[in-house]
Amino acid sequence: RTVAVILAGGTGTRLGLGIPKQLLKVAGKPIIEHTLAVFEAAPEIDEIVVLMAAGHVPDAERIVQRAGFRKVTRIVEGGDTRNATTRLALDVIGPDDCNILFHDAVRPLVSGRIIRECVNALWTYSAVDVAIPSADTIIQVDDDECITDIPVRSRLRRGQTPQAFRSGTIREAYRRAEGDPDFAATDDCGVVLRYLPGTPIKVIDGADENIKVTHPVDVHLADKLFQLAAAKAHRLADHRGYTEELTGRTIVVFGG
Ligand code: CTP
Repeated sequence: RTVAVILAGGTGTRLGLGIPKQLLKVAGKPIIEHTLAVFEAAPEIDEIVVLMAAGHVPDAERIVQRAGFRKVTRIVEGGDTRNATTRLALDVIGPDDCNILFHDAVRPLVSGRIIRECVNALWTYSAVDVAIPSADTIIQVDDDECITDIPVRSRLRRGQTPQAFRSGTIREAYRRAEGDPDFAATDDCGVVLRYLPGTPIKVIDGADENIKVTHPVDVHLADKLFQLAAAKAHRLADHRGYTEELTGRTIVVFGG
């Protein structure tokens, strides 16, 4: 079985709106509803577990009920950090062997293609990340904001989500991390990299559109990207009608 974990335990301090950003409406729907819809529609996903910001479980329940998402089996509160939220998700899922995909609730433009490729890669790898090349040069700085390194750009990627694992691998990585007082990570592949060194972590291609709504400008960007996606879907649906119309005109032109 393949379980998608939607990480929605954050409060969105960088956006600074007073409500968790996953509840913000973009293109007419709360961000988390867009995200859930993609996983609900993905044939590779059997079950969805939502980890929600403290005090907002009822909001998530309302959204899931209204939209009629049938794969969502549990909605519970997340933890204080993203990794604490992941840990709670592992407890909720239980000890059975399965595939687990962790996805940021605030990446509503994830695609069915990305989900499919993550799940397929789990036939060969026990850990999978999603990333895109970096258009910008990435520089490393010290505490004084002075450059200490400029890694070769062609080897750098920008990590997105989902991050996908066989359950045994991510569970073991977190079990080892538990005993480390210096534990710190911002994502789940980082936990595998650090605590299960030597585990190959396959990287599959993400997408420029798969943005993480983080700063105010991202809300506008996401809105525009949904508009573009809707226009594209509309054009595809209309394609036949279009073609017939064009063919008709062509006949008229050549017939005249
Ligand atoms: N997340 C989580 N549990 C936390 C913190 C974050 O599940 N304790 C989730 C967020 O809800 C989000 C994803 O992890 O979907 C990516 O995190 P980020 O963009 O940092 O979200 P926030 O923590 O909400 O934002 P900020 O850092 O600006 O407060």
